Amino acid sequence: MSLPDNERKLTIAMPKGRIFEEAIAFLQQAGLEVTRELQDSRKLIIPVENASLEFILAKPTDVPTYVEYGVADVGVVGKDVLLEEERDVYELLNLEIGYCRMVVAGLGDWKPAEAPRVATKYPRIASRYFREQGQQVEVIKLNGSVELAPLIGLADRIVDIVSTGRTLKENGLVELEHICEITTRLIANRASYRMKSEAVDDIAQKFLEVVPRSRG
Ligand code: PRP
Repeated sequence: MSLPDNERKLTIAMPKGRIFEEAIAFLQQAGLEVTRELQDSRKLIIPVENASLEFILAKPTDVPTYVEYGVADVGVVGKDVLLEEERDVYELLNLEIGYCRMVVAGLGDWKPAEAPRVATKYPRIASRYFREQGQQVEVIKLNGSVELAPLIGLADRIVDIVSTGRTLKENGLVELEHICEITTRLIANRASYRMKSEAVDDIAQKFLEVVPRSRG
């Protein structure tokens, strides 16, 4: 017996930006139909004909918000965003793509400051980390180009993700402390996970088959 449309159709939130291309390649490997529209256009809602699927393209930090509120059933998102946003979603699968690490970085000649200030796009992660270390710091939230902060004296250190290490290097910064490893995850809305279990399981299963290849 086939399911009614509203139980079959799955809305997937995809993050625009850093991990987009790798995530699209992952979808292709999982056998999902990746249209030109999804790759190239400026459209933000992209239905996949005959596949009971619809993609929405969101800013990465908003993916867990769309999923928590159920306007997307599942989402593809970095662990950095999950740790920072603390949204109420199910984390279903580690896709093992989008590898990077969360670090504390500073100038090569960094010395402990009297009133330490840390600039970051991740204020929750940074505050939690320094609290756990028993260090009192002032955390300053920035929205990007965080590496600028120690160079112009806004902060003595930063908390940020490092991928190739190129941005740090080209700005004369070095990694001081390792906070955690980051990879891309598949998340699901709690109600969708129950009400659309077949469709969610189906996509998770397809993704799961690709994971060992991502790992390699
Ligand atoms: C991220 C991150 C670093 C950079 C690290 O920024 O915040 O700045 O990438 O990558 P790398 O180690 O390969 O150099 P993003 O490109 O997302 O831009 P943003 O600074 O505007 O947030």
